[in-house]
Amino acid sequence: MNNSVNQVENNKTHRILLVDDEEFNLELLKGYLNRQDYELITAMDGQTALETVDNMPPDLILLDVMMPEIDGLEVCRRLKASSKYSSIPIIIITALDDTEHHVGAIEAGADDFIPKPVNESVLMARVRGYLKTKQLSDEVKRLMEFKRNLTNMVVHDLNNPLTSIIGNLDLIKTDENIDDSLRPLIDRAYTAAQNAAKMLENLLSIERMESGMLELNPRVTNIADLVKHVAQLQETNFLKKGLSVKLEGKENLEVECDPDLLERIFQNLLNNAIKFAPDESEIEIHWKENPNDFHLSVANHGPTIPQEQQKNVFDKFAQVENRPEITRKGYGLGLAFCKMAIEAHSGSIKVTSPVPDWEDGVQLEIRIPIEYTPRAQKAANESKISQPV
Ligand SMILES: Nc1ncnc2c1ncn2[C@@H]1O[C@H](COP(=O)(O)OP(=O)(O)OP(=O)(O)O)[C@@H](O)[C@H]1O
Ligand SMILES: [Mg+2]
Repeated sequence: MNNSVNQVENNKTHRILLVDDEEFNLELLKGYLNRQDYELITAMDGQTALETVDNMPPDLILLDVMMPEIDGLEVCRRLKASSKYSSIPIIIITALDDTEHHVGAIEAGADDFIPKPVNESVLMARVRGYLKTKQLSDEVKRLMEFKRNLTNMVVHDLNNPLTSIIGNLDLIKTDENIDDSLRPLIDRAYTAAQNAAKMLENLLSIERMESGMLELNPRVTNIADLVKHVAQLQETNFLKKGLSVKLEGKENLEVECDPDLLERIFQNLLNNAIKFAPDESEIEIHWKENPNDFHLSVANHGPTIPQEQQKNVFDKFAQVENRPEITRKGYGLGLAFCKMAIEAHSGSIKVTSPVPDWEDGVQLEIRIPIEYTPRAQKAANESKISQPV
């Protein structure tokens, strides 16, 4: 038996892998497909097919079922279970009345099957269709990659000057010789720079979470300390609007979570509460431990979020419509970040508006299971598919 990979043509637009343990069948398929501008590679057993995919990922696989050792269905199953290769369309070639293999092919995740004896027109129509789909999905992947790189580049390039602006404004603020008439201007510049920095941080985290690159660093964390620390940092903002804050929760509540992420989640919730609360109103923050989860809520008075818009507020760039322009300052990224970060803890986030027992306002609640398993990071360097399992 010839196990070697036979590369028939090179430098063609689409690469198709043909897998069959019978030379005659391979020649037949090659005969049909050679009439088009395809690069054809072949493998005569399952193991070689998997190695070929690792070495020269094809755009489409035509796969025979019956092969010794690793059969076609197992090859299909392994490829479809791999995040690296699952987007390669697989057409299984089976005997016409072989219902068992048809069902098996569907269960193994095959995209389609073609009955033997292979009809040339059917084969060519399917091949063209699946190559087109693959081309589009590759293009989407390329654009996503481009977006990721662009986001990283913009965030990093803006972060350095922003850090320098914030640091220098911080120094100027503490300078007693500064003319008092300049202080409101400096404060405004400082707040604007801080908001932009927060937006960049949210944008980068969302990008990292979407691409499975954000790693959680869970530690046992004292929630009361975390909440009070973040609230303390916002003290000047509370004072500016004359807001009072009610903090209520267990003193020594310890939760296993990524403290940096939880701090930023809470910061976003509190920022929203401060931003949307009317002057001289009260913000309520509660936290508690239930038998199965930890629960934290932030509630503020002010405009409600209409029922039909509540499910959208966690989408990226979502802002509630029909609000005065002044309250729409922001980027619509805060709650999208919170949702992803809380879901990375296997937790959940919920919005209720108006706040229960109030006539207005918005309440945001987060829950984290007490014993959660940090969601496995997507294997960036997934092991090779052809390695024995
Ligand atoms: N506490 C709240 N009170 C009233 N409306 C809220 C509250 N929290 C969120 N919203 C509504 O949900 C929208 C989305 O919130 P999100 O935090 O994602 O964005 P943002 O605050 O507008 O911008 P960013 O957080 O990126 O600066 C807000 O624009 C606002 O319309
Ligand atoms: Mg926000």
